[in-house]
Amino acid sequence: MTTATAVAPANIALIKYWGKKDAGLRLSANNSISINLSGISTVTTVEFVDGLKEDQISIDREVVTGAEKKRITAHLDRVRRMAGIHLKAKVESKNNFPKGTGLASSASGFAALTLAASSSAGLLLSEKDLSILARSGSGSACRSIPSGFVEWKAGNSDRSSYAYSLFPADYWDIRDVIAIVGSDVKKVSSTEGHAAVESSPLYKGRIRGIPRKIRRIKETIRNKDFSGFGEICEAEALSMHAVMITSKPALIYWLPTTLRVMHRIIDWRSGGLESYFTIDAGPNVHVLCLAKDALKLGKHLSLIEGVKNVIVNQPANGAALI
Ligand code: PMV
Repeated sequence: MTTATAVAPANIALIKYWGKKDAGLRLSANNSISINLSGISTVTTVEFVDGLKEDQISIDREVVTGAEKKRITAHLDRVRRMAGIHLKAKVESKNNFPKGTGLASSASGFAALTLAASSSAGLLLSEKDLSILARSGSGSACRSIPSGFVEWKAGNSDRSSYAYSLFPADYWDIRDVIAIVGSDVKKVSSTEGHAAVESSPLYKGRIRGIPRKIRRIKETIRNKDFSGFGEICEAEALSMHAVMITSKPALIYWLPTTLRVMHRIIDWRSGGLESYFTIDAGPNVHVLCLAKDALKLGKHLSLIEGVKNVIVNQPANGAALI
């Protein structure tokens, strides 16, 4: 069979996915909105090979074993079932960002794997089908398939839960400057976190408020209303972290530097340098700003005690074969 190589971007959720209505199918409890990131991506090559006894998988040149291998093999099994083949695969995956920085790689990783594996298996899937398949490997990966500004429709079945592009990558010249605060591998995975949402007394209220936030954020993107957009993003990130912090066990992903960065952003904003933060299931801070302010913000952020690195992203296209 032929070898296929795909690249896929990571994405940052602006309206977050936190909680599932079906854990097996990875159906989100709510719609979410994201942008693909130009500076963080995964490149994956897949080849289904005659005579191979088991799947051979490497990530960043290290052989993958254990639970990580099981999850990837299960995804390859989905592709094999769809294509009607039984061959095992060689998978080589590389991230363009260092490991151990706490940057999520499951979205870009499963999106690139989905496109490379399906195409190596001879399947010609539509964007919607690729998004559905990527979702079954990692929920947020479904948003790394379409381009630019993306919505994941939560749906209520396998076929109705997928992501599509709301606006192309060049629709609005904004930036996401990531302040890398560090941390080793997460103590609590997002899979465990999703499972704990019901234990938070704030969860139900958060879910009730999401449809209105989705309507409003789409309007602010359409109108390029940066202040309105940023306010929603920041409030939304705090709302998800309020659920995390009040879950049992409490999930406190922030480190002291995370809070330091958040406070600086608020201070700079009152001084006229407009940016807003959003944070996923980790300590790194994504700082949303207009393109004209990205350089200045990047410099300011890199000078904050505890910030290890800064990555400037613009909205990017989704997964593609290379
Ligand atoms: O796709 P998962 O299981 O890694 O969950 C992603 C969860 C968040 O990054 C916190 C939010 C999101 O919508 O991406």
